[in-house]
Amino acid sequence: MEMEKSRITTQKKKKPVRLIAAVCNNMGIGKDGKLPWHLPSEFQYFLNTVTRVSRPGKMNMMIWGKLCWYSNPENLFPLTNVLHVVLSTTLNTVPDHAHFLCQDFESAVRLAAEPPLADLIETIWIVGGTQVYQEALKHPWCDLVYLTDIMADFDCNVFFPEFDRELFKVQERFPGVPSVIQEENGIKYKFQVYKKEIGDAV
Ligand SMILES: NC(=O)c1ccc[n+]([C@@H]2O[C@H](COP(=O)([O-])OP(=O)(O)OC[C@H]3O[C@@H](n4cnc5c(N)ncnc54)[C@H](OP(=O)(O)O)[C@@H]3O)[C@@H](O)[C@H]2O)c1
Repeated sequence: MEMEKSRITTQKKKKPVRLIAAVCNNMGIGKDGKLPWHLPSEFQYFLNTVTRVSRPGKMNMMIWGKLCWYSNPENLFPLTNVLHVVLSTTLNTVPDHAHFLCQDFESAVRLAAEPPLADLIETIWIVGGTQVYQEALKHPWCDLVYLTDIMADFDCNVFFPEFDRELFKVQERFPGVPSVIQEENGIKYKFQVYKKEIGDAV
């Protein structure tokens, strides 16, 4: 019995769970199923971040809420080095271009942490929307939140959830993340990373 228990325990490999989002002044992230802004360089930063792996042959997992998934332009896919999981309680089949469909957040995390994917996956990227971000922020393996601060007002009807900025501390500088203020289409923004200072993060 003890042996069986330890076998099951060692089968699960902890993976960093990381959120990435761009938020405007009121923490808005979306409007009517779309992004409220057009910032191609910011979007490219998002793509570069989620597709980065430490060595060839490794992959990341992206976890998408259903509406986020369908808000993507078709020509976004395939993304290199990424397996996509869509979360939905109502879909019956894996959407085109996605790799997996899960009915709840923890099942998606388990997929990355257990065989056969455990040796392949490096990072689990949480790409929204609100409920998915909320669950990820509470997850014990969540260590970083990449939040682009878009320094402008936009009309939004979807928002990034409140989070504890004492627990997740903004970093002055972070490797690989430009620290100077960016500007695109007359809109200023800065890339920020919040790091969880305590807990069971990987
Ligand atoms: N600015 C940014 O960085 C950013 C990032 C992401 C998204 N967005 C924007 O945010 C908006 C979409 O986000 P949203 O919050 O409205 O929707 P969403 O999270 O993408 O989709 C909601 C749906 O996803 C499924 N779902 C979500 N969490 C689940 C869970 N834990 N388990 C099972 N199913 C789950 C449910 O589908 P079922 O009803 O089928 O169960 C739910 O109705 C868009 O406007 C998008 O452009 C912006």
